[in-house]
Amino acid sequence: MKLNGKLTRSIWLEPDGWSVGVIDQTLLPYDFATLRLASLDDAARAIRSMQVRGAPLIGAAAAYGLCLGLRQDASDEALERGYATLLATRPTAINLKWALDEVTAAVRNRPREDRVAAAYRRTAEICDEDVAINGAIGRHGLKLIEDVARRKKAGEPVNVLTHCNAGWLATVDLGTATAPIYTAHDAGIKVHVFVDETRPRNQGTLTAFELGQHGVPHTYVADNTGGHLMQHGMVDLAIVGCDRVTAQGDVCNKIGTYLKALAAKDNGVPFYVALPSPTIDFTVGDGLKEIPIEERSADEIANVTGRAANGRVETVRVSPEGSPVANYAFDVTPARLVSGLITERGVIAASRTGLAKAFPERAAAAK
Ligand code: MRU
Repeated sequence: MKLNGKLTRSIWLEPDGWSVGVIDQTLLPYDFATLRLASLDDAARAIRSMQVRGAPLIGAAAAYGLCLGLRQDASDEALERGYATLLATRPTAINLKWALDEVTAAVRNRPREDRVAAAYRRTAEICDEDVAINGAIGRHGLKLIEDVARRKKAGEPVNVLTHCNAGWLATVDLGTATAPIYTAHDAGIKVHVFVDETRPRNQGTLTAFELGQHGVPHTYVADNTGGHLMQHGMVDLAIVGCDRVTAQGDVCNKIGTYLKALAAKDNGVPFYVALPSPTIDFTVGDGLKEIPIEERSADEIANVTGRAANGRVETVRVSPEGSPVANYAFDVTPARLVSGLITERGVIAASRTGLAKAFPERAAAAK
């Protein structure tokens, strides 16, 4: 994607050829700064603190984390320790485990002296594959937007609602939920996006930031607005990302996604979920019962950060002192509420058959 006109990925190898550059997403959209990750602990810290976030980017950062760890110690014991440290950083997005497994498989049966190069090689592939997958998601999702555009009166935009940030900042590039939007916009289709704020961490600010950078018309709305917009025919389709899809098509995504899916069902608005295949977890069926939901610090709910009138970025407390706070970071949308899954292999049914048919090799490997 272009950032201030310059082609940028959300993660890259620094010119030294081994340390890793990322954008510190905790500072966006108010400030822009990059971070250099030089050790496995740096990578673990960046994921835990959400300086890097979004399921595919978490996976890529964890893969680089293993590379950095192997540079320091390429033994089996260090590999296992590093795997466990990185896996524990965030529990819900399955791309993290997938990427760690991929790098581990690439190095496990190699002599120690070959392991670092093999790990960097597989990690670079993971990053490039993510970009290619998102390109395919964009092309398949484009057809959904084109179908709506054909039914619109001349000059009317296709209105898409999205939740959280499943954009290029959350992936290596292009994004998942945003890929069809960028592809349609670049093809000259008029698209307008309603961007959910996504409390508590306001990832909607990241989505609004990147849509703005790409010139896509959008409107930033409070989280509770989606139902109202849908009741008044102001949303043509919803497209969200996800952190894990189960074998039966249940979708785990940022807290609040389920409420949007309910409102979409009640109003006959198509509700699509965009995902790369590493987000599918064929080892779990019932998402509600089996997916661990991350609970994060109460501070994220109790406080709000933004730019004050004096230009400074400030954090203020919004919840009353002494009120207990709960911070569930994700929820599960049952497959029955999902109109379709936009994957790199096409738009498929959110069902056991749909997923197994599109990704037979992954389904078989999980048995
Ligand atoms: O807590 P976050 O910001 O990592 O959550 C991000 C999301 O929920 C995204 O929708 C999901 O990871 C998909 S990113 C392509």
